[in-house]
Amino acid sequence: MSCFFNFKDKLRLTRGPEVWRKSNGLSSERRDKSSRSAPIGESPRTKSSTSSANSTRTVSEIYNERARNLTVFSFSKLRHATDNFSRALKIGEGGFGSIYRGTITCSDGNGEGQVEVAVKVLKRDSSQGHKQWVAEIQFLGVLEHPNLVKLIGYCGEDTERGMERLLVYELMPNKSLEDHLFNRAYPTLSWQARLEILLGAARGLAYLHEGLEVQVIHRDFKSSNVLLDENFKPKLSDFGLAREGPAPDRTHVTTKVVGTHGYAAPDYVETGHLTTKSDVWSFGVVLYEALAGRPSLNQKLPKSEQKILEWVKQFPASSKKFSTIIDPRLENQFSVGAAREVARLADRCLARRAKSRPKMSEVVEKLQEIIQASSEVTEAEPSPPSPERKDNTIDPEKDSNTGPGKSESWKRRMAQLEKLAEHVEGDRARKFMTRQRANVQLKEHVSV
Ligand SMILES: Nc1ncnc2c1ncn2[C@@H]1O[C@H](COP(=O)(O)OP(=O)(O)OP(=O)(O)O)[C@@H](O)[C@H]1O
Ligand SMILES: [Mg+2]
Repeated sequence: MSCFFNFKDKLRLTRGPEVWRKSNGLSSERRDKSSRSAPIGESPRTKSSTSSANSTRTVSEIYNERARNLTVFSFSKLRHATDNFSRALKIGEGGFGSIYRGTITCSDGNGEGQVEVAVKVLKRDSSQGHKQWVAEIQFLGVLEHPNLVKLIGYCGEDTERGMERLLVYELMPNKSLEDHLFNRAYPTLSWQARLEILLGAARGLAYLHEGLEVQVIHRDFKSSNVLLDENFKPKLSDFGLAREGPAPDRTHVTTKVVGTHGYAAPDYVETGHLTTKSDVWSFGVVLYEALAGRPSLNQKLPKSEQKILEWVKQFPASSKKFSTIIDPRLENQFSVGAAREVARLADRCLARRAKSRPKMSEVVEKLQEIIQASSEVTEAEPSPPSPERKDNTIDPEKDSNTGPGKSESWKRRMAQLEKLAEHVEGDRARKFMTRQRANVQLKEHVSV
């Protein structure tokens, strides 16, 4: 889904890209920390921000002090790494540019090694792309958390075709939460896996909002920006629209509205007043996406179902019809009680008044409780039918999938996986199948 942009935000560079590039000679990759030569700009705060003068340090100040080592790559190295940006290696496309899988040769004291990376090529000669590129480097140069994607390095180089701006990230082999929730080419993401991914994503946001000396507001939290590693551990990506939050004595930052339709908080869209609670709203939308297996906006559906938030309102968490909104691909292999709790949490995140929304640390706690309660119910099997089970009946046939009488759905899923694995070679295919099989097994075993 593409972003909507309305950039009045000023991310002014203290040195323009030209000066920066010349002073750094990007002919070969190297670490930028020693030279402190990365594209340091003014803080991503706006002039019109209501943050106070005696506020804490800005992200760019922190970046100057303790930026992680980022590698500055030459354009030719990245072209080589991606086989000249081969279409066969293209793994994604967003509003700012295309993403390619690539392999980089690195050397350390023990010799040479190959690292798989994701290379984002920003659209050329776009001022929005430039701002995004600078912000991404500044934020990801400073932020460090297991639930945030790692930026390995970047490239900014003037070529005969214009200014090329690229970002090099760790490769997230399982793509995004969006891919797994909505793309039917992937096996169904189990209930348990969904909860764990949501919890990890919530931890990432809690770190941004509450775990740093400055508050960071992501501003573009959505399922396509929750990437999944080889173990389906989630990591937040795309910090190009991120902003510093208000100073401690201020309530909000005033900015022009940017973000993605369907995820942005209405109060932010209406007033331009940005707080961490804008991200909390977006998280609430993603909670419903994970429950329903439907994107926040889908124009292919009947009108009354196109906007997920309007549609789910017809089936409140406490109503009898609540199960209507649950992703049918879960095939009843989830706890309705837990699903209701997730919906209640989503409703709190989606409170019209920003102040009434929970902090992300509270969201993390609540999700932990829900996961704990779900697993206790699972461990306590066989359990007597609970009133919740009325609308979540377990099909005994679906449960008998471990022995020779594996369920039809299991067989279907494995066949689907074998097909997917045909595109993956050798050792990677074996690993892929082992991982996906485990995933399907897990899903098949989740019970109420
Ligand atoms: N580090 C990565 N590793 C593997 N795949 C990635 C990586 N980063 C992005 N992708 C893939 O590329 C897709 C597109 O990402 P991108 O951030 O460009 O656009 P988007 O998030 O879909 O939309 P927008 O441009 O509005 O943010 C992602 O959904 C994901 O599948
Ligand atoms: Mg993205």
